[in-house]
Amino acid sequence: MATIKGRVLSVASECVPLIKTGGLADVVGALPGALKPLGWDMKVLIPAYRALRPLVAEWPEVWREEDLWGGEGRVLAGEVEGISILALDAPHLYDRIGGPYTGAGGDWPDNPQRFAALSWVGSRIAREGLEGWKPDVLHAHDWQAGLAPAYLTYHGAGGVASVMTVHNIAFQGWAPAALLADLRLPGAAFNSHALEYYGGISMLKAGLVTADRITTVSPTYAAELMRPEFGMGLQGVIAERASVVQGILNGVDTKVWSPENEGEFAYSAKAMAGKAAARAALSTEFGLDVPGPLAIVVSRMTDQKGIDLLPAVVPDFVAGGGGVIVLGSGAPELEGAVQDLARRFAGRVTVRIGYDEALSHRLFQGGDAVLVPSRFEPCGLTQMYGLRYGTIPVVAAVGGLADTVINASPAALGAGVATGVTFAPTDALAFGQALRRLLQLHAEPKLWARLVKNAMAQPVGWETSAAAYAGLYADIRG
Ligand code: ADP
Ligand code: GLC
Repeated sequence: MATIKGRVLSVASECVPLIKTGGLADVVGALPGALKPLGWDMKVLIPAYRALRPLVAEWPEVWREEDLWGGEGRVLAGEVEGISILALDAPHLYDRIGGPYTGAGGDWPDNPQRFAALSWVGSRIAREGLEGWKPDVLHAHDWQAGLAPAYLTYHGAGGVASVMTVHNIAFQGWAPAALLADLRLPGAAFNSHALEYYGGISMLKAGLVTADRITTVSPTYAAELMRPEFGMGLQGVIAERASVVQGILNGVDTKVWSPENEGEFAYSAKAMAGKAAARAALSTEFGLDVPGPLAIVVSRMTDQKGIDLLPAVVPDFVAGGGGVIVLGSGAPELEGAVQDLARRFAGRVTVRIGYDEALSHRLFQGGDAVLVPSRFEPCGLTQMYGLRYGTIPVVAAVGGLADTVINASPAALGAGVATGVTFAPTDALAFGQALRRLLQLHAEPKLWARLVKNAMAQPVGWETSAAAYAGLYADIRG
């Protein structure tokens, strides 16, 4: 390990490999390892949800909080796959059947308190330090950690600088104004220049107005966030702080996402036979017979992801020779719409409802293209897996998708730099045109091979981005 330049406490609600609902977990879990060679020592504070409790039960206690919204909280320290984890064990808040944010009846009603507790403990550890470990920077991720920089501001920072990272501005952590005192926030903070938001409290806004720096997960999303179409009501707040806003593109974990390490079907840009074998295996497994490009979708099924556009574009794509495998889960009406397509186009379209990490790997190995028709996309990871696996991304030109995929325009093809197909706006017309373009490109083997080669040569690891975070931490530390 390089000499230590500084210490960072990362505060988040998800972290791979312990708990994941989306890309946030991937990023929080990848940062510590990416920063280590640069001399930044990062620990990650997350809640000890029910599924984590057996794992952390025997870890040593490094912090105790007597009064944590109705019970006591203990911070247990351990290491998981090289990541230093601080697990906040507070059974009255986190030991529940369900997801991190929802139970059978929807959102947990005490989510404001549950994540205020996480942020409170994060701010206290940052301010006071653990025995032998005092952070220079607190790095808060999304609304669940938004109160952490606010607590540093309102209860004393102890020389610690703070960064607020927006992974998705659609989730703003709203709480009723009546909770102000309960959330340990001063009356003075309840104004529109601080954390008041439409008559209530936004825990994300609290972080945005108090953190020393704001980052988001791609340069394009950083610019989009200041516009009403993407800022979701917080555009003014971000624009006002434009001088401290920075977009740092996510990377992907290239140890986990690597076609060379995929066992039976391993392949590389120089030896692609494994990819063809993986495609054949997928076709057998799902009973598909697709003469043209086999496209995959691996996604949460929500409005954000544009899954509702599939019924409008898939019939033409299938008529042109294409096929689609969809893996995902989410809104029942979107799941239903995709299932309906699979029934109509049996042998060409198939869907697996659910979350399946292993299958997602096989899809990237065997697919020809990955479709990401998002309405907004702060960064997006699946288009980067696509690049790495030579599974050509077809993406809406928004956020991180626009920053990572080079459209196969005549100019880009001529210059030999194209890596995928991009389209705008996110609607069925443009998406349909992009799929026609995909069919054309796939029908020209030389062109296609070049596209695949370019895609696989793209650097999508963490090196550049980790250096940007390291630079940022060095800039703001006291
Ligand atoms: P978001 O965080 O908005 O969902 P990202 O593209 O940043 O979007 O990250 C999504 C992550 O979740 C990726 O690692 C993707 O492979 C994974 N993922 C999404 N849905 C599924 C699924 N049904 N099965 C397996 N992995 C999934
Ligand atoms: C959010 C965004 C996604 C991004 C991920 C990690 O879930 O929706 O675009 O890649 O966070 O930053």
